[in-house]
Amino acid sequence: MKDESARMGSKIAVIGTGYVGLTTGACLAHLGHDVICADIVPEKVEALNRGEIPILEAGLDDLVHEGLRSGQLRFVLGSEHAVDDAEFVYLCVPTPQGEDGSADLSYIEAAAQQIGPHLQSEAIVINKSTVPVGSTFVVEQALGRADVSVVSNPEFLREGSAVHDFLNPDRVVIGAEDQGAAIRVAGLYLGLAAPLQVTDPASAETIKYASNAFLATKISFVNAIAAVCEAVGADVNDVVLGMGYDKRIGNAFLRPGPGWGGSCFPKDSRALVRIAEDAGYDFDLLKGVITVNEEQFERVADKIEHMAGGAVEGKTVAVWGLTFKARTDDMRDSPALEIVRRLRARGAVVQAYDPSVEEPGDPRLDGIEIATDPYAACAGAEVLAILTEWDEFKWLDFDKVGETMAAKRVVDARNLVDRTALLRRGFVYQGIGRA
Ligand code: UGA
Repeated sequence: MKDESARMGSKIAVIGTGYVGLTTGACLAHLGHDVICADIVPEKVEALNRGEIPILEAGLDDLVHEGLRSGQLRFVLGSEHAVDDAEFVYLCVPTPQGEDGSADLSYIEAAAQQIGPHLQSEAIVINKSTVPVGSTFVVEQALGRADVSVVSNPEFLREGSAVHDFLNPDRVVIGAEDQGAAIRVAGLYLGLAAPLQVTDPASAETIKYASNAFLATKISFVNAIAAVCEAVGADVNDVVLGMGYDKRIGNAFLRPGPGWGGSCFPKDSRALVRIAEDAGYDFDLLKGVITVNEEQFERVADKIEHMAGGAVEGKTVAVWGLTFKARTDDMRDSPALEIVRRLRARGAVVQAYDPSVEEPGDPRLDGIEIATDPYAACAGAEVLAILTEWDEFKWLDFDKVGETMAAKRVVDARNLVDRTALLRRGFVYQGIGRA
C-alpha cells in the first residue's frame, strides 16, 4: 500500500539498472518519487524505455510499466544525464570479486567520478552497492564535492522477490556521518512500515556483509547437519522442523540443498574474509562456512555418481534446474552449474531442463544438452538430479518420467518432490540428509 505522505515525491537518480538499481528505481517511483535511472548500455536503456525488462523478477514489469505510464520513471543513457536535477542519487553499480577475493570498487569509483561535477549542491549520494567498510569515504573522495553528503543504505533484496522485499523490508539501514542527511534519506522510505536504523557508515556497511555471511552460515550449517543425518540415519527435514520451533533459531534459511550460490553470498563471504584479514582478524569460522559449501557441490556430485552405479562415465544424467535458485533466471555462481561441471568432468552426458533457460547460447551451458521440457531431459537417463527448487517440478507426471528414463533413479538435492509417491512408482530415491 502506498502511504499518502510519500506522495510528495523527491527527485531521485539511480545509477545502474541491474536487479538492485532497477528494483530500487521502480519501487521508489511506485512510492511517489520522480526517478531517472541511468545505465551505460544503450540497448538496455532503449528496451527499458519500451517497458521491456531484462531480468525475471516477480512484479517488476508491472511497476516499471506503471512508472513509465505515469512519467515518474525514466531511463537515460549515461549517469551525467540523470543527476543534474536530482536531490538524491543512488549508486547501484556492481562490486564484483577482485582477484584477491576483495570487492572491486572500480565501477563505483568511476560512477562517482562521473557524476561528481554534475551534482546539485546539497545533493545526497546513497550507496546501495555492497562495499567494504570505508567505501563511503572512497565515494566521497571520488565525487570531490564537499557540499554533497554520502550515505550508506545497504540493500537486503533477494532475487526473485526483490520487489516484495523492497516494499516490505525487515529493516531500513542508513549509515551516515551527517545526521541531517540520514533524516532526509529516511524520508524517502516514509511509505514503508519497517524499523529504521540510523548508524555510522562503517556499521551500515558491516551490517550488510554480516547479514549475508550469517545467512550463508545457516545454510552451510544445515548442509553439514544433513551430512550428519545421513551418517546416523536421521531425517534432516524433521531435524530442521524441530530446531525451527525454537524462536532463537527460527525456521528460515535452514533448507538443505546443493550449496548456496548466486551473485551475492559467494562474493560477499569471500570479501568479508578478506576485509577481516586486512584488519588483522582471521575469520576462520567464515572460511569453514565457505569450505562446507564447496564440499557440498562435491557431495551432491558424488551422490549422483553413486546413484548411477558408481560411475557416470559415458552415462546420461538428467538435470532439472540450472539457475542458482528458483524464480530467477540468474545462473551466476549457480550450485547447479558447479555440480554439472563436476559430472561432465567425470564423463557424464548431461541433459538439462530449466524453466527460465530457453536457449543454449550462453557459454556457461557449453557441452550441456538443453532440453525443451523436463520429460525430454530424462530421455534415456540413468539418473535424474533435481538441483533447483522450481515448484513446477513437484507436479510433473512421474509415471511418464519413469517411462522415459533408462533407470528410475532420482537424486533430489532440494528435498523437493514427494519421496513416498516416487517410491510407490518404483523409483530409487535419494534426498539430502535423508534416505
Ligand atoms: C541474498 C540475500 O538473501 C539478500 O538478503 C541480499 O540482499 C542479497 O543476497 C544480496 O546481497 O544482494 P539472493 O542472492 O537473491 O539474496 O539469494 P537467497 O535467496 O539468499 O539464496 C542464496 C542461495 O542460498 C541460493 O543458492 C539458495 O538456493 C540458497 N539457499 C537459501 C539454501 O540453500 N537454503 C536456504 O534455506 C536458503
